[in-house]
Amino acid sequence: MTRLLQFAAGLAFAAALTLPAIVRASEPDDVIEYRKNIMKTLGAQAAALNATLQGKAPAESFTLHAQVLAIAASEALIAFTPKVEGGDSKPEVWAKWDDFSKKMKEFAANTADLAKTAEAGGAAAAQPKMQGALTCKGCHDTYRQPLKK
Ligand code: HEC
Repeated sequence: MTRLLQFAAGLAFAAALTLPAIVRASEPDDVIEYRKNIMKTLGAQAAALNATLQGKAPAESFTLHAQVLAIAASEALIAFTPKVEGGDSKPEVWAKWDDFSKKMKEFAANTADLAKTAEAGGAAAAQPKMQGALTCKGCHDTYRQPLKK
């Protein structure tokens, strides 16, 4: 076991040596795609959460979806931290960063609370907190370009 570990550590060290010394900075398109992916995760988990409440998906999965939603929400703030305008974000995201980041932090805190409540008391206990936690539309109305039809 120890020899195997030593071998693995040796491999990892060799791999590290072959990596470029400076990690390439993300291209603007990468930054935009990354934050869109985080948002898509939120969209998928919010839809799954609602499906469990409507009897269209296993009810016991409510808590799991609430947990994943909370994790993705905490990733969202980080994803917007590089100031890269574009995608469907309005420039106000960075022009009003104090307000935007406050909204994101509240969103992360409220979804974390939702997940904790679900862990302790299940969907029935958490459901009343959903509207207050899923502040998606409130933020999109201010900070996302209106969707093209
Ligand atoms: C504090 C602000 C904020 C909150 C809260 C927020 N979003 Fe977003 N969301 C954005 C912004 C800004 C964009 C545009 C990102 C871009 O294209 O640059 C976006 C984009 C999206 C997209 C489109 C992704 C794509 O494919 O281009 C989806 C889906 C989405 N959000 C879902 C959600 C859901 C669901 C929630 C709540 C559970 C949520 N968002 C909460 C700000 C927010």
